[in-house]
Amino acid sequence: MATALKFAQPEERVSNFVSRTHKMLINGKWVEALSGKTFPTYNPATGEVLARVAEGDKADIDLAVKAARAAFETGPWSKLTASERGRLIWKIADLIEENLEEFAELETLDNGKPLKVARAADVPLAVDLFRYMAGWTTKIEGNTIPLSVPYTPGAKYLAYTLREPVGVVGQIIPWNFPLLMAAWKLGPALATGCTVVLKPAEQTPLSCLRLGELIQQAGIPDGVVNIVPGYGETAGAALAAHPGVDKIAFTGSTEVGKIILQAAAGNLKKVSLELGGKSPNVVLGDVDLDAAIAGSASAIFFNHGQCCCAGSRLYVENGIFDKVVEGVAARAEKIKVGSGMEASTDMGPLVSEEQLNRVCSYLESGLSEGAKAVTGGARQGDKGYFVKPTVLVNTNEKMKVVREEIFGPVVTVIPFKDTEDLVTQANNSVYGLAAGIWTRDIQKAHRLATQLRAGTVWINCYNIFDAALPFGGYKQSGWGREMGHDALEMYTEVKAVCAAL
Ligand code: NAI
Ligand code: MG
Repeated sequence: MATALKFAQPEERVSNFVSRTHKMLINGKWVEALSGKTFPTYNPATGEVLARVAEGDKADIDLAVKAARAAFETGPWSKLTASERGRLIWKIADLIEENLEEFAELETLDNGKPLKVARAADVPLAVDLFRYMAGWTTKIEGNTIPLSVPYTPGAKYLAYTLREPVGVVGQIIPWNFPLLMAAWKLGPALATGCTVVLKPAEQTPLSCLRLGELIQQAGIPDGVVNIVPGYGETAGAALAAHPGVDKIAFTGSTEVGKIILQAAAGNLKKVSLELGGKSPNVVLGDVDLDAAIAGSASAIFFNHGQCCCAGSRLYVENGIFDKVVEGVAARAEKIKVGSGMEASTDMGPLVSEEQLNRVCSYLESGLSEGAKAVTGGARQGDKGYFVKPTVLVNTNEKMKVVREEIFGPVVTVIPFKDTEDLVTQANNSVYGLAAGIWTRDIQKAHRLATQLRAGTVWINCYNIFDAALPFGGYKQSGWGREMGHDALEMYTEVKAVCAAL
């Protein structure tokens, strides 16, 4: 398992993998794009090109969907027992675990996150997710249902439901947790017996491609998992619109979520969406201040704020406002920003130049409208995509920095008077992904948990994820849930069978 190694350079096998020209996985074969095109993926700590990757578009998506269809309808996959399917999924987990260090380094190189974070969170969570879903294969059950059909008096029936795989699934994932997002998507699809065409984010395709190799090594039959890297507007759009796809699962921006929904309308494919957030994190006056300050800083700064559930609106009860602002700012200043490959780094660069510009333009907009940066407020350095951990005060609810998802290490701290005022402010958002509550008053905490419109509520903790805990959004944060057994529902159809006895 992981030792406390200090890597400034990746391991040799990792650099060997990275430096390849990467192909796409279609029907069990690694192939180039039909167009012959490739695209670059960058190291966000330096801005340099890391590798070139086959650039899939509509034609490649077509091939991948055909392969997935054949594997679903005729291939060995649909003939496996549930237990055999479970064993193969478990094997994927074992293989990821055996290659934990390699995956952690790939995530750091391609995404920028600190190696220690990828090692402790991204990779082990992906392993757990596959194991959790492997266990479900043998437990996907229907019901027997008593009938009382009014127009067939005296007749007897045996009625039951079957839960069957929805079919060919298209999955489009983002770059903030590249391997983990692939796991969240692939796990339930494979557990339910679906076949998949997966499109990784163009910013971070590498760990997903390595995962493709391990999926083959595990013995998942050809065509069951196809991986087509490429851009959203081409490969992603083709997948979302494809008439041969039965369901599309998407994680990313709310803006693109709406585009996916329209694209899916053509054949009314099922849709699940895990979208943006602007999650309120609430600190009540009675709180254990040290715990709340540490937790609130990590709620926003974890993964550089590039979390859909980041605690980006920090609401603090009037009496302790200044103390919490001071405490969170002090923590922000202690965060060591640098290359994720350095053992001492707490926060790496943002994933791309585009995200750097986006986050900086939010900072400029907030500051020009009168917000004050207690700390941070700007880019750090001029090489790589680093942003200083930032604490904003003097905001108001009309500002973009309060209303819109920034997806960077920027928290707005906002005072509130009482819980009624708090609930109104906290729920005043188009989003409803997550919320945090910090208090010693358990009654108040659980009451607030019912009042906040969010798919996840953390009490005296934040960013706690578990393969068994469903995750997803209210309002414009999405449709459906990932993880937990709720995720299986999005990958199954219910068939009612009724037999006259
Ligand atoms: P995005 O939503 O454009 O990209 C996410 C995925 O969707 C990528 O795989 C991309 O290739 C694909 N995609 C893009 N346009 C598409 C289209 N027209 N059809 C089909 N697929 C498409 O997100 P982006 O541009 O990387 O980041 C922009 C903002 O989105 C961020 O600042 C953040 O606010 C939000 N975001 C939210 C995430 C979440 O976890 N909910 C993850 C990533 C971004
Ligand atoms: Mg985009």
